[in-house]
Amino acid sequence: MSARLHNRTALVTGSTDGIGVAIARALAAEGAYVVVSGRDTARGEKVVAAITESGGRAGFARADLSLGAAAVRELAATATELAGGHLDILVNNAAMLLVPAPTAEVGEDVIDRALAVNVKAAFLLTGLLAPAMAARGAGAVVNLGSIAGLSGTGGSALYSTTKAAMHSLTKSWADEYGPSGVRVNTVAPGPTFTEKVAAMEEHLAPMLARIPSRRPSTPEEVAKAVVFLVSDDASNIHGATLSVDGGRAAI
Ligand SMILES: NC(=O)c1ccc[n+]([C@@H]2O[C@H](COP(=O)([O-])OP(=O)(O)OC[C@H]3O[C@@H](n4cnc5c(N)ncnc54)[C@H](OP(=O)(O)O)[C@@H]3O)[C@@H](O)[C@H]2O)c1
Repeated sequence: MSARLHNRTALVTGSTDGIGVAIARALAAEGAYVVVSGRDTARGEKVVAAITESGGRAGFARADLSLGAAAVRELAATATELAGGHLDILVNNAAMLLVPAPTAEVGEDVIDRALAVNVKAAFLLTGLLAPAMAARGAGAVVNLGSIAGLSGTGGSALYSTTKAAMHSLTKSWADEYGPSGVRVNTVAPGPTFTEKVAAMEEHLAPMLARIPSRRPSTPEEVAKAVVFLVSDDASNIHGATLSVDGGRAAI
C-alpha cells in the first residue's frame, strides 16, 4: 500500500455505490481514514468491510442529503467525530443521476430534490467543513462535476444545471478558501461505467461514438484523479477541472 494520504482523514459523500465506492477505496489505499456515506447502511457497511479487509481504515455515516441543513449538519458532526476530530479531505460526490426527460415533463419535486442533493448539500457541507480546514491551514475539497456540466444536452437540462453549479462552486471556493491553504478542484467524468450507467445502455451508445477514446471511463480511473488532486502531488493546483472523459470535453 502506498501512503500519499497517510494520517489524513476524508469524507466521501455518496460512497455506498458507483464512483464513490472507488473513490473511498482509492483514498483508503493511500493511507487515509475514510468516512463512507450514503442512505443505504447495508451497502455502506459493505464498502467499509472491503476497505478494512484490504488493510485500510474506514467508518460509515448514514445521511440522506435530500433532507436539508439539519441532515447535513448531522453528517458533518458524525463524520468529524468518526475521523477523530477533524477532516482533511471532502469529496462532494453524491448526486441523483436523472434519466433524460423533456424539460416540460420534469416535475417540481424532481427539480427540488436534484438541487437539494446535487448542489445544496455540497454547498452546506463545504460551508461546515472547509472553515475548519482553513483554520488549520490545510485541506482539500474535490467536487464531482461532469461533462454534462461543461456542455449542454437536450433532455438533461436539470442534471446539467446541477453539475454546472458544481463547476462554478469550485471556482468560488478556490478563491474563498485557497488563501487559507485549502485547495478546491473539480473532477469531471465523462460517461463512467457503473452498474447504473450500464443499465442505461441505450443512452450510452450514441455518447461513446463522440468520445475520442471510444469508451467510457471506469470508476477507478475517476478515483485516481480525485486521489491526485487531494494529494500533495497537486500542491499548487487550485480551482482546476480535471476531465476524465476519454477526451470528450476537448472536441
Ligand atoms: N456515472 C457517470 O457516468 C458519471 C458521469 C459524470 C459525472 N458523474 C458524477 O459522479 C458522481 C457519482 O456518480 P455515480 O455514477 O457513481 O452515481 P451512483 O452510482 O448513482 O451513486 C450515487 C451515490 O450518491 C448517493 N446518494 C444519492 N442520493 C443520495 C441522497 N439523497 N443522500 C445521500 N446520498 C445519496 C448514493 O447512495 P445511497 O443510494 O446509499 O443513498 C450513491 O452512493 C456524481 O456526482 C455524478 O454526477 C457520474
